[in-house]
Amino acid sequence: MDTKISAHSLQTKKIGFLGGGNMAQAMIAALIKSQCLHPNQIFVSNRTPGKLLKLTENFGITAVTTNEALVEQSDLIIIGVKPQDFPLAVEPIANSISEHQIILSMAAGIKINQLQRMIPRTRQIVRILPNTPVKIQQGVTGYFLKKELSYLKSLIEHFLKPLGAVISVDDEDLLAPLSVGCSAGVGFVLELMQYWQEWFEEHDFSSQQSKEMTIKTFLGAAQLAQQATAATELSELQNRVVSKKGITAAGLNSMRELEIERLLRYSFEKAALRDKEIAQEQS
Ligand SMILES: NC(=O)c1ccc[n+]([C@@H]2O[C@H](COP(=O)([O-])OP(=O)(O)OC[C@H]3O[C@@H](n4cnc5c(N)ncnc54)[C@H](OP(=O)(O)O)[C@@H]3O)[C@@H](O)[C@H]2O)c1
Repeated sequence: MDTKISAHSLQTKKIGFLGGGNMAQAMIAALIKSQCLHPNQIFVSNRTPGKLLKLTENFGITAVTTNEALVEQSDLIIIGVKPQDFPLAVEPIANSISEHQIILSMAAGIKINQLQRMIPRTRQIVRILPNTPVKIQQGVTGYFLKKELSYLKSLIEHFLKPLGAVISVDDEDLLAPLSVGCSAGVGFVLELMQYWQEWFEEHDFSSQQSKEMTIKTFLGAAQLAQQATAATELSELQNRVVSKKGITAAGLNSMRELEIERLLRYSFEKAALRDKEIAQEQS
């Protein structure tokens, strides 16, 4: 086993994406834009050919017609198929994957031990959970690897850094809440944004103005939080826009009375439950 893997060695590796769907495309876009990888290092296979054509045109990467050929050519393989497609995609190639190859699985809910059983010849298996803003290098990607693979950390972090924040977890179970809050979370935030936009529209702003006001409000709040000192709590920033008996206070009081937190927690828990079900369906 290669114990001398370094961040620098990423530039000499061939990177294969098995499955060229939304998440793979988002990662490829960011990895090329950030110059972390050169397009000629990247190979992609996909079940249907349409996406491959688009990927070669857009990014100048190499399309590979079979998963077998992808495995033959790649040092690091990112498996980007949906959890329900995972067994069908991986079983035929599992025995061709050697102990020197590194596997990054982004399938939500499929645990390391399950992956290990499906891909028995390499121990170098890492779970990653990116979210869609990785496309614009503003994502959050969680990852988990077993302790004996800690020599891979530098390589993995170097690979994931261009995508945004990288969160290493020592306990695999933490990937579930990360997936709910960060991956599904993007969908939840967009749901809230739609209520904001609708509210502006109901008050006679044009749809375009409403959307812009909504986006800037969310972005502005997020950037204020990002630019504040690390020690500044979100509640402290919030307090700065609240004056006693003012309009923010009136709205916040109502949100609290209506228990918005309980509603959100309930929805998060439902999503976490679904994550567990997916894991059970694959075991
Ligand atoms: N979306 C998120 O926010 C998010 C977050 C974290 C993790 N994930 C995980 O990321 C993975 C991909 O999600 P996604 O949203 O990118 O899904 P997606 O857009 O459906 O992409 C999956 C791709 O896999 C391809 N595929 C399926 N079976 C294949 C096979 N046997 N051989 C080669 N390619 C195959 C599909 O090909 P076709 O073109 O034929 O359909 C499709 O292009 C999932 O496991 C998901 O759990 C997603």
